Amino acid sequence: MAETTQAERQKSQRAEGMMADMTLTPLNATAIVDSLSVATTAMFTLEIRDSVGSTNDLVREFLSADDSRGVIVLAEEQTQGRGRRGRRWHSPARANLYLSLGWRFHGPVERLSGLSLAIGAMLAEAIARDYTVELALKWPNDLYHGERKLGGVLIELLGEQNGAIPVIAGIGLNVNMPVEGTEAIQRPWTDLATAFGAPLDRNRLAAQLISQLASGLMDIAGGEMHNWLAHWRQRDFLHGRQVLVEGSPTVAGTAAGVDQNGALLVSTETGQSVVAGGEATLLEIGAAG
Ligand code: BTN
Repeated sequence: MAETTQAERQKSQRAEGMMADMTLTPLNATAIVDSLSVATTAMFTLEIRDSVGSTNDLVREFLSADDSRGVIVLAEEQTQGRGRRGRRWHSPARANLYLSLGWRFHGPVERLSGLSLAIGAMLAEAIARDYTVELALKWPNDLYHGERKLGGVLIELLGEQNGAIPVIAGIGLNVNMPVEGTEAIQRPWTDLATAFGAPLDRNRLAAQLISQLASGLMDIAGGEMHNWLAHWRQRDFLHGRQVLVEGSPTVAGTAAGVDQNGALLVSTETGQSVVAGGEATLLEIGAAG
């Protein structure tokens, strides 16, 4: 039998009335905070907005204020959602999670090497634990289910302020994605509702992810980045696959994991290359990304 397409699956879910109930449940600060520990609540101020340009921009404004706490901004919709490498992040209203976390890191900047991978690993671990959905991580920080992208992380580090390094981690997760408007997404995509088999309560999901991020960031502040990179390696989407990483120089070869800084290792005909930044494209016929 022919494989059911993403659009067909989601249309049939909608026909059953499953999507409508959950996607209309608005984000609610009380519902989220009630599920967080006292320690996590003390770490962050939580802001929920109806419509913003980009949650990352709002977090940047909050971080420039004189407050020692971190901040988490969630929005129902983004009108200027940003992806990596100048791409647009499709951010329809009341469907998905658009979450930016602002955190002031006190410590040596070396401890942040690999942060974007670690955040992806934290999200994947929380989702595997709470929903038994296994996600793979495509270097540096895309979340995949099967061969389809389900989420991504956009990290921005700001200049040092009062002895701290302000970090913005913008997280976009397709949760209950409506099919309308997705023609513009250039790569194969999926959402958590499809992977899990039912629509998800975004307030519950947000609380679970915030809890994991809070404890994971404490690990990193304590010098435990290597543990999160070890989790990342267990979910390495590219490992052993043929990749092309465009940059200067462009590298083509077999993806061979990541080093202690989160740089991609690529085995080439002339030896091993260490690629610190860029985007890896799969060199396989019909490959997703
Ligand atoms: C990527 O995979 O390219 C990264 C996508 C990051 C999207 C999130 S949504 C919340 C935050 N606000 C933005 O404008 N971008 C990030």
